[in-house]
Amino acid sequence: MPIKDWLRGLEAYSPPSGEGIEVVLDLNESPWPPPESVIEAIVRALRSSNRYPRREDVEPVREALAEYAGVEPRHVVIGLGGDMVIEKAFQLVVRPGDAVVLPESCFSMYPFYARVNGARVAGVTLSERGEEWVLDWQLLLEIVKRERPSLVGIDNPNNPTGSIIVPGEGELVELLENAMRRRVLVVLDEAYYEFSNVTYVGLTEAYPNLLIIRTLSKAFSLAGLRVGYGIAHPELVAKLESLMPPFLPKPSLYAARAAIEDRGYVRRVVEVIVSEREWLRERLKMLGLKTYRSSTNFVSFKPGIDNLEEKLRERRIAVKSFRIGDYKIVRATVGKPRDNSMLVNALREVLESG
Ligand SMILES: Cc1ncc(COP(=O)(O)O)c(C=O)c1O
Repeated sequence: MPIKDWLRGLEAYSPPSGEGIEVVLDLNESPWPPPESVIEAIVRALRSSNRYPRREDVEPVREALAEYAGVEPRHVVIGLGGDMVIEKAFQLVVRPGDAVVLPESCFSMYPFYARVNGARVAGVTLSERGEEWVLDWQLLLEIVKRERPSLVGIDNPNNPTGSIIVPGEGELVELLENAMRRRVLVVLDEAYYEFSNVTYVGLTEAYPNLLIIRTLSKAFSLAGLRVGYGIAHPELVAKLESLMPPFLPKPSLYAARAAIEDRGYVRRVVEVIVSEREWLRERLKMLGLKTYRSSTNFVSFKPGIDNLEEKLRERRIAVKSFRIGDYKIVRATVGKPRDNSMLVNALREVLESG
């Protein structure tokens, strides 16, 4: 592809503005700050921030993540957010002109890195079935056979619907077997694992073409410090490591280690978010909105009226809207109880005034 055509497709990905927003429910963050033990660890890191991080700063984090995920440390690769691990996966296998297979609606960085690497996206249909969104698994398998993609990305649970879209282990194994024969990398994104309790980490030993993405940005309340990790076969981990920058910020590393150690805090955060999520869904239903079952820290629903995102923004509440085929859905992160009540009240007003 001529470089000019390639550059034309690129757009900068800049963070959204939070200016004037009082209730922040648009980026699936934890509404609670990290615990005191994490803040103390960050202060300790700052005191020696004249020094580059050493191996002794990184390896305990890898060990703690591995122990948490139930794998050996050599199965873990750490990145600046799960985002960086996704970026390196694309860099490793995707070349200009390649196909990348993704659900037709998924975490925005997948189509972004497909574009950055000059790949074309083959989208797999997501259909509404009752209170779930379902991925057409048969179509996914056919596209993998037909298109010979270099990468398949699946976020499970899916962002922005909140649905579990991998039907089960048998189906995933069928995909991995097919993908392995065709040298396709399967990136399975478990960013919301703490909320879904669904994981396929156990398959990474047998399938060296499987990369699992995890993050400390959601349940662990560390979105601003950018710590994520990949879990994969050691051979794949070594390849990804070879593309990683040598240093990750010390405050992030120290914070990660402390956050993983304070498992009780995460458990409480998840418990409250799950209970608030179900409260929020009930209230949205009472407002006559169609909502979807969620295995994440957000709720998605049909907006009922046009320009709902803008109308809520005028009331200083940030949510995010998406298009899936002919449908429009809105995604609202679960906030603190007060945030969720404010969202429900604002929605009631907006819907009543049409
Ligand atoms: C499915 C999915 N993967 C990855 C991420 C990004 O995580 P991180 O903050 O670790 O880059 C998100 C964030 O919203 C996400 O929804």
